[in-house]
This record gives sequence, structure tokens and C-alpha cells, in this order.
Amino acid sequence: MKLCIRQMKLDDLDEVLGIEQYSFPTPWTRTVYENDLKNNPRSRFFVALNESEDGELLGYIGNWVIEDECHVGTIASKREFRGRGIAEALLIHTARAALAEGVTYIILEVRENNFAAINLYRKLGFKQVGLRRRYYRDTGEDALLLTHHDLEGLASRDIPPAVARLKEKTVE
Ligand SMILES: CC(C)(COP(=O)(O)OP(=O)(O)OC[C@H]1O[C@@H](n2cnc3c(N)ncnc32)[C@H](O)[C@@H]1OP(=O)(O)O)[C@@H](O)C(=O)NCCC(=O)NCCS
Repeated sequence: MKLCIRQMKLDDLDEVLGIEQYSFPTPWTRTVYENDLKNNPRSRFFVALNESEDGELLGYIGNWVIEDECHVGTIASKREFRGRGIAEALLIHTARAALAEGVTYIILEVRENNFAAINLYRKLGFKQVGLRRRYYRDTGEDALLLTHHDLEGLASRDIPPAVARLKEKTVE
């Protein structure tokens, strides 16, 4: 089993949108993704693939790089593969790619009740720097604003343990 992370392509969108549908209260549409992939020079969207299963798409992340900032706009992993390190691997990959183009920090918003995501970001060293009241109009939830300024530290974390966990659980 090998986890491969590469840039998102238009051909990935059927699988991405399949995951998107059950992952967010207000899923992004195909048009939103197409616009980013085709027209936005700031977008850095990546997918994680299971190379041993015909490239099954296991997760994705959508980032925008604006000068020295990388803004994570979306991240999700396939339901059956959650808790196996896919999102962690995508964030580490994001930090590596961001560092390579001179980015100094990552910023993101997360729903106040999204405990899985908040745990993920805390585990990787993100810190809360603000609160955006009723930021999410669909549920009225507040957004926690998190940043990560130690990109070298994040980028130097190992991706392989995540892949190893994926292997163990898939063999069951
Ligand atoms: C949040 C999400 C992206 C996490 O993806 P994932 O691939 O399952 O995450 P990982 O396996 O890489 O988890 C890494 C860490 O995150 C935390 N975490 C992940 N899922 C968790 C859960 N259900 N409960 C508590 N902590 C969790 C843990 O700290 C975990 O580390 P550990 O395995 O050493 O305990 C996934 O649940 C998802 O797609 N959710 C729907 C979309 C979403 O909410 N995106 C976030 C938008 S801000």
C-alpha cells in the first residue's frame, strides 16, 4: 500500500465531489472546484490516492497561497478511511509545498463543533488566534481562526506512519 499525494486535476472531481457531499453541511459545487482549478493562480489543491487500489482517491485539501500566507479552504478524507492519517498527510504535504514557495504561515477557519478537525489541527501544532462569530451562515456556528507559523516543524513530520496505519487497517 502506498499513499501518493499530487495536485488535484479536473478528472478527480467526481471522486472529490462524492466525498464533499457527505463531509460538509454546505458542500462546494463542481463549479467552485472547476473555477479554482482552471482560473485561480493562487489555488494549490492536492489529492491523496491509494496507489495500490487503482489510485482510489482517499482525501483532498484545497489551499490558496497569497504572498506569504497559505489559507486552507477545505480538507476532507473518505469516510471509510478516516482516522488513518490521510488528513495529517495532506497537511504535512501542504506545509512542504508552501515552504518551497516561501510561505511563512498557514491559516484556516474551523467550525467550533468540529471536534475531529480541531483535534487534528491541535495535534499538528495549530494555535487559535481568533474567533469569528456566526461565521458559518448555514448552521450559525462560530469559526475558530487557527494559524501555524512553524512550517519547518510541520513539514519535517513524517508522513510514513500515517501510511503504515492505512496499511494495517486495510489488511483487516
Ligand atoms: C476532519 C477530517 C478531515 C480528519 O481526517 P482524517 O483523515 O480522519 O484525519 P487523520 O486520520 O489524519 O487524523 C489525524 C488526527 O486528527 C485527530 N482526529 C481525526 N479524527 C478524529 C476524530 N473523529 N475524533 C477525534 N480526533 C480526531 C486525531 O488527533 C488524529 O490523530 P491520532 O490518529 O493520532 O489520534 C475528517 O474527519 C473529515 O473529512 N471530516 C469532514 C470534513 C471536515 O470536517 N473537514 C474539516 C474542515 S475545517
